Amino acid sequence: MKRIVLIVSFVLAFIRLAAIEGMWIPMLLKQLNEKEMQAMGLRLAAEDIYSVNQSSLKDAIVIFGRGCTGEIISPEGLLLTNHHCGFGSIQKHSSVEFDYLTNGFWAMSRQEELPNPGLTVTLMRRMEDVTDEVLSGVDANMTELKRDSIIRVNIKRIEGVAADSSGFDAQVRAFYYGNEFYLFFSETFRDIRLVGAPPSNIGKFGGDTDNWMWPRHTGDFALFRIYVNKDNKSAEYSPDNVPYSPAHHFPVSLKGVEKDDFTFVYGYPGTTRQFLPGIGVETITSVTNPVAVSLRNRRLDVMTAAMNQDPAVRIKYAAKHAGIANGWKKMIGESRGIIRMNAVERKKTFESDFLSWATRNSKNNERYIQIIPTFEAMHNNLRPLSLSRTYITEAGLAIELVRFAFQFDELAKLSSGKKQNDEKINKAIARLKAGSDVFFKNYHLPIDRKLMGDLLSVYYSEMNKSFNPPVLNRLIAKHKGDFEALSNDVFNVSIFSTPARLEKFLKGYKPKHAKQIVYDPAYQLANGFYTLLREDIAPAVRIIEYALDSLQRIYIQGLMEMQPEKRFYPDANSTLRVAYGKVDDYTPMDAVHYNYYSTIEGIIEKEDPDIYDYVVEARLKELFLTRDYGRYADKSGRMKVCFIASNHTTGGNSGSPVLNADGHIVGINFDRNWEGTMSDLIYDPDQCRNISLDIRYCLFIIDKFAGAGHLVQEMTIVE
Ligand code: ARG
Ligand code: GLU
Repeated sequence: MKRIVLIVSFVLAFIRLAAIEGMWIPMLLKQLNEKEMQAMGLRLAAEDIYSVNQSSLKDAIVIFGRGCTGEIISPEGLLLTNHHCGFGSIQKHSSVEFDYLTNGFWAMSRQEELPNPGLTVTLMRRMEDVTDEVLSGVDANMTELKRDSIIRVNIKRIEGVAADSSGFDAQVRAFYYGNEFYLFFSETFRDIRLVGAPPSNIGKFGGDTDNWMWPRHTGDFALFRIYVNKDNKSAEYSPDNVPYSPAHHFPVSLKGVEKDDFTFVYGYPGTTRQFLPGIGVETITSVTNPVAVSLRNRRLDVMTAAMNQDPAVRIKYAAKHAGIANGWKKMIGESRGIIRMNAVERKKTFESDFLSWATRNSKNNERYIQIIPTFEAMHNNLRPLSLSRTYITEAGLAIELVRFAFQFDELAKLSSGKKQNDEKINKAIARLKAGSDVFFKNYHLPIDRKLMGDLLSVYYSEMNKSFNPPVLNRLIAKHKGDFEALSNDVFNVSIFSTPARLEKFLKGYKPKHAKQIVYDPAYQLANGFYTLLREDIAPAVRIIEYALDSLQRIYIQGLMEMQPEKRFYPDANSTLRVAYGKVDDYTPMDAVHYNYYSTIEGIIEKEDPDIYDYVVEARLKELFLTRDYGRYADKSGRMKVCFIASNHTTGGNSGSPVLNADGHIVGINFDRNWEGTMSDLIYDPDQCRNISLDIRYCLFIIDKFAGAGHLVQEMTIVE
């Protein structure tokens, strides 16, 4: 009997150890995770992963651009991230003539590396727990407003002192809705150059069809380099800058991974909401997601049709389309996962357990009793507001012309009133001219004109009539409900719809011309939608969310009291985290089993020269046909492309290094599986997998496909 119990608990321990939910704080690994990580296979100490005293892995991880992760992989500041993270930069350097999106780009020397104005990467130097300092002067009985104002003052002071004394940027961030606070010291680099990117039919192979899905065959990587001044310090772009010399760079392993191998992901997950109550989850997955999905369906259909007809339009709309499609597919997967897990009911059951616990212990803490019913009431009030906001942002303000027109709001305001400041006006005009160039470079009017009609018609028929901007009612009356005519009319008269018209308007601009902005129908639509957001929605949402945040904070305190044994991790908040798990396959549905890796054979299987997403480059095919994989094949001679593992990741983890037990790179994280996209709200160890590019395929593309072996040479390769 005893033996059976032992075996059972051993098996249980084993199952539990295959997948560990959580995105952990690097400086707490020693205390919370080190033992478990080592039991799962890690051969490093927590101190090797994060340390303030010695160089550690954290010195090679950066926030890349606005919201991806990147890692340094050579002593000369070579930076690895995803193709989809570098996509905007690659696109900016692309034209029909030099189409790096389609053909790829490889700098064969340092001189050929391309600067990217505006692109930054940020390196975290160290972090500190400043909870006590931030909460000093706060007591449990004060109002939330009072509490907040004290906290705000404390944070400002702490950040000021920290920045002055360290010379780094210093920022305090709240964790667990303000139960804990950490101070982050960081350095931002501003001269980041593009070094290499595969053609899109490798870097984006499978496109939006395969996005969020396993099995996957996407070579989703790009290379950049950090440049600094002669003192190895961050500097603005200068031709005299030199490659950055980092405190750590990741060795790259050619050993590959097997099922059950330990891996960890080190990076910058953006947002998760694991503590959201069931009713809040329901709003997302049953109310706002479906509306956003159906509105995005329309936008994507119109864009795709135009992109298929004209290669120039394809380039112009590549990034826009990818962004819209990415969110669209994520929402579909998330809603399905929630339903499949019965997550709303599960959360509600858990909440009623919490309520009974709180009631039983009410003498300890009265305030826990109110939480669940108050959540319910507040989320009920929030729901219609969230829905309206979804219609406004996903329909009204999804019209490009409408958003663009509102850029001129400032100029109109500067031009009104008695005294005008010519200098300010001229500056605004210069900014608007530059902004217009950017806008029209990637604009295709027929797409937007068609969408204006479609989106406004859905908005009008599905939204509460009190949410119609006055100009919409006027236009509808004028065109007797014909939305196509309405849209044609707006595009015919608006000064914002063509570069020529706009240029003419700005050329001879005088403050008295501001009327033309204010009476422009595109501007009026924008103004109408923004006014609704600002006046009818935002203030009400702000009040509810403010109260909800406080409730969430107290709820988490209660949860920690109720489950003293449980090890908690804070929601992702774009700060550096470690997730760990094992290389693992899964069963998405009855009778279907997914292997944990994909190979180049799958690329050839998917090949279809007639479908843009599945075109296979001739050179790649040649390498495949001759099995010319060099040292990048696995032991049995196969070229592996991607693999999955049970690391808990989210948006922002894209580009994160996937590391083996020795802290060497074996992959680059770039996605999650569709069945697991609900993990931002609730995690299912059976279904949730992160998808990584096998680093050997990445090196194979750099070296064998592109002939840029000099880049591999500057890396530290572990064979
Ligand atoms: N789903 C991944 C992420 O959330 C990849 C997105 C880019 N790829 C694409 N086909 N749109 O960012
Ligand atoms: N592709 C996502 C990103 O850009 C990562 C996938 C996820 O959401 O886990 O961050």
